[in-house]
Amino acid sequence: MKLPRSVRDADVAGKAVLVRSDLNVPLENGRVADDTRIKASLPTLRLLLERGAREVRVCSHLGRPKTDEDRAKYSIEPVRARLRELLPDERLTVLENTRFDPRETKNDDAFARELADDRDVYVNDAFGSAHRAHSSTEAVAHLLPAYAGLLLEDELLHLGRLLGNDVERPFVLVSGGAKVDDKLGVLRALGSRADDVLIGGKMAEDVRDENPFPFEATLPRDVVAASAFAEDAETRVTRYDELPDGWVGLDVGPETRDAFAATIGGARTVFWNGPMGVFEWPPFAEGTFAVARALADCDGYTVVGGGDSVRAVQEAGTADRISWISTGGGASLELLEGRELPGVSAIPHA
Ligand code: 3PG
Ligand code: MG
Repeated sequence: MKLPRSVRDADVAGKAVLVRSDLNVPLENGRVADDTRIKASLPTLRLLLERGAREVRVCSHLGRPKTDEDRAKYSIEPVRARLRELLPDERLTVLENTRFDPRETKNDDAFARELADDRDVYVNDAFGSAHRAHSSTEAVAHLLPAYAGLLLEDELLHLGRLLGNDVERPFVLVSGGAKVDDKLGVLRALGSRADDVLIGGKMAEDVRDENPFPFEATLPRDVVAASAFAEDAETRVTRYDELPDGWVGLDVGPETRDAFAATIGGARTVFWNGPMGVFEWPPFAEGTFAVARALADCDGYTVVGGGDSVRAVQEAGTADRISWISTGGGASLELLEGRELPGVSAIPHA
C-alpha cells in the first residue's frame, strides 16, 4: 500500500491549517456519550500546535442531518466543548458540522473552496470518513498542500498488516452482527485469504441457509435460544438446529464459545468485526464477551474494527490487550476489501 505523505513532513510554523478529523461521536442528551474519536484526534492537533501553527481549524461531520430539526440535534457544540476541555489552546477552533451544508456530501468544489479559503495547509486525519468522497475529505485536498494526519497514518499501517501476503498465520477472521449485506464484500475478499473464518450472530443464520462464500466458514454449533426477541425472554441452550418453534437464537452457546476461543487462541493474526449476538442485553452478551477475551488472551496480532465490536471490547474490559482498535467502521471494511479510500487517494503520497 502506498502511504500518503505525513503531517510530520509538513512545514506548519506560522501557517493557518485546516484539519479534517472524524469527530462523529455518539451523543446522549446533548452531551458526548463516547469521546474515543475526539481523543484519537488529539495527537495530530498537538503536533500542529507544538510546531507553531498560527491557527488550527478543525472540521468534521456529525451524524446524518437532513431536516432543519436535525440542525439542533447535530450541532457540533458538545463536541467542540469536549475538545476544548481536552486541548485548551486559543489557536484551536472548530467549524460547525460540515454536513449542515448540503454541498458537503456532493463533494462540491465551491464548498471545498470555502473551507480552503485563507488556509495554507490541509491535514486529513479522518480515517473513519476516508471512504467518503466529500468536500471536506476529498475536494479540498486538491486545493491546498495536503497531508495525512497521525491517526489516519496509524490506521493505514495497522490495518495494512492484514492486507499483505506476509500476514502471520494462522490468520483468523471473526465476523458477526446484523448488517450482513454490508459485510459480504469484505468477507469474500478477506475470507479467502484467512485460514479460519468464524461466524456468529445473525450472519451465521444467513450463511447457513446458503453459503455465499467461496470457502467454508465455521458456524455456531449451539445457541442461546430465547422465547421471544426480548431482553427478559425465557432462555435455554440448544443445538442450532433444535430451536423450539417460534424461538430465536440470540447468542452463540457455550460449546461454540469454547471452540471459537480455542481457534482464536492458536492464531497469529485475528481480525474481528461484528458481535456474536445481542450483546446489549446481558443474557445474550456472553458469546461476544468470550470473543473479546479470546482476542485479548491471544499472543498474535489482533485487530478490532466497527462500532459494535469496539464497544464490546470496551465493555468486556479487554481493550488494552488488543493490538489495534480501529476508529473506522465502514472505512476499515472498505480498506480491507481492497478498495481505494477517496480521502486517502486525494493526498499526494510520500
Ligand atoms: C462513521 O461513523 O462510520 C463515519 O464517521 C462515517 O459516517 P457516515 O457513515 O455517516 O458517512
Ligand atoms: Mg492480545
